[in-house]
Amino acid sequence: MSEIVLSDVCKHYGEVVAVQSTSLRIGEGELVTFLGPSGCGKTTTLRMIGGFVDVTAGRILVGGTDVTRLPPAKRNMGFVFQNYALFPHMTVAENVAFGLEMRKIGKAEIADRVKTALSRVRLAHLADRLPKQLSGGQQQRVALARALVIEPTVLLLDEPLSNLDAKLRQEMKTEIRLLQKSLALTTIFVTHDQDEALSVSDRLVVMSAGKVEQIGTPRDVFERPASAFVADFMGFTNLVPVKVEGHGRGQLRNGMAIAIDKESPIRGEGLLALRAEHMSLSSKPVSSDVNTTEATIEALTYRGSFVDYLVRLDDETRLQVRGEAQSPFAPGQRTFVAWQPDAGTLVAAGQA
Ligand SMILES: Nc1ncnc2c1ncn2[C@@H]1O[C@H](COP(=O)(O)OP(=O)(O)OP(=O)(O)O)[C@@H](O)[C@H]1O
Ligand SMILES: [Mg+2]
Repeated sequence: MSEIVLSDVCKHYGEVVAVQSTSLRIGEGELVTFLGPSGCGKTTTLRMIGGFVDVTAGRILVGGTDVTRLPPAKRNMGFVFQNYALFPHMTVAENVAFGLEMRKIGKAEIADRVKTALSRVRLAHLADRLPKQLSGGQQQRVALARALVIEPTVLLLDEPLSNLDAKLRQEMKTEIRLLQKSLALTTIFVTHDQDEALSVSDRLVVMSAGKVEQIGTPRDVFERPASAFVADFMGFTNLVPVKVEGHGRGQLRNGMAIAIDKESPIRGEGLLALRAEHMSLSSKPVSSDVNTTEATIEALTYRGSFVDYLVRLDDETRLQVRGEAQSPFAPGQRTFVAWQPDAGTLVAAGQA
């Protein structure tokens, strides 16, 4: 029984509201990711769940039991801290063994479990080193082994891959996900990296300034952002003001009528979120069943296999459009921007 329920949990530091009133449920065996920019309250929320930060108000339940006032050691949660927090005077093996010794487990079993945990994170050969003799990525993996070895009912990971190189990050990400699934371990994973969040999670909790902006599956959040903030954070580089006139119809500021395919409750003033890679440029007008408007190329950035353009519509709206690297357009050139009706998604007008 390891379902986690947060009920109106918040954290204030004096005047600073680190986490606004937050309610959410993380199902047993689920991997949920807290995603958001630096300072949005990810670590604070995770630490309240782990018991390392007192809540200002609200309740935290695990498997139906109120743990709000329990010390960390009584919560049986494995925690990987953002700064690893290894014991500096203990070897790698001693760091990993620590939680088991606290639980008064026999020496032989400890040795066995430490060995298994270290080989899982590929550090068996460094068991006798001190933390200061390890790289940042190696220390991060010791922290992961230390969290797993106690066979926790809940695993809390605060940016557990941030210090690994790209290849190791990919491997460890897969490893964590396989392990989490095979043990059906209820897990919260904190990151500010969208790609990591999309590929590892059952569901995402997108946060901004201490507030939950959206909770949903990776596909929900990526394809149907609930706010301008989420759209911007998930890579919709264009947020174009639009007047929504009814189902499937809208008008840009320049008066251009556009078709919008996705259902949306928004009427009146809104923003049309468009990804640069879902738009195209051409030197001639395109067929009438796509949205198309004339524009001027302002700037371009060569990106290897493609080119990123900044184009300006005649009403001064600027759009980012990704184009092919062959025969690029030049600054000052006139062009037609086009996108399919189903490429855009509507969000309420507001701060991105
Ligand atoms: N002990 C503290 N005293 C005062 N303010 C704090 C304290 N700890 C955190 N904060 C503030 O609370 C907010 C949330 O911090 P938190 O560490 O949870 O962010 P985060 O989302 O984990 O960011 P990052 O991605 O940089 O790790 C920040 O504005 C931070 O400055
Ligand atoms: Mg943090």
